[in-house]
Amino acid sequence: MKFVLASGNQHKAEEIGVLLPAHFELVLQKDLGVESPIETGTTFIENAIIKAKHASLATGLPAIADDSGLCVPFLSGDPGIYSARYAGREATDIDNLLKLRSALEGASDRRAFFYCVLVHMEAAEDPTPIITEARWEGEIAHEPSGDHGFGYDPILRIPSLGKTAAELSSEQKNSISHRGQALAALSGLLSDRYAT
Ligand code: IMP
Repeated sequence: MKFVLASGNQHKAEEIGVLLPAHFELVLQKDLGVESPIETGTTFIENAIIKAKHASLATGLPAIADDSGLCVPFLSGDPGIYSARYAGREATDIDNLLKLRSALEGASDRRAFFYCVLVHMEAAEDPTPIITEARWEGEIAHEPSGDHGFGYDPILRIPSLGKTAAELSSEQKNSISHRGQALAALSGLLSDRYAT
């Protein structure tokens, strides 16, 4: 069974591929010549559906799409769907971290969570997408720490572990993260839908 992954990110394809049932093959949309659509939604779920529809329409394959980001309740959910470009269109991960640190200077509540939603659509007009989602709760550290991972990992501290997400190995992170949890749930539901 072949699926198109509505992402250009090889790292995500590997992460998702490992968790999917063995007879599922995942192809990156960019390897099929498909560009990313403009994400016009105002929620993670809307953007994930836009991406899945677009990939399926362009390739004729069933699609899997994801959308994720960091939400800080004290900042009314920011950076949210704008996580990748919080400090501007060309922002680096460091620019985003520094902006977040400044925004939370003196804040009384530093709680935050990573959020991931995954969508599977059998076809662009599939009226019954499979949707799974998960949160990974933590708090924004005063200083970034750790070299693993990407994005906001160095600044999200997981209190139960006493470490930031960037201080975990990728295996540790994947086993508990927002993306790992949403993927495990999706994998189970896909196995049910495509039971051989
Ligand atoms: P996307 O789902 O690839 O569009 O990710 C959006 C942005 O959310 C990323 O560029 C990161 O800034 C942030 N983000 C999502 N997941 C993670 C994570 O696991 N660690 C750190 N940052 C993340």
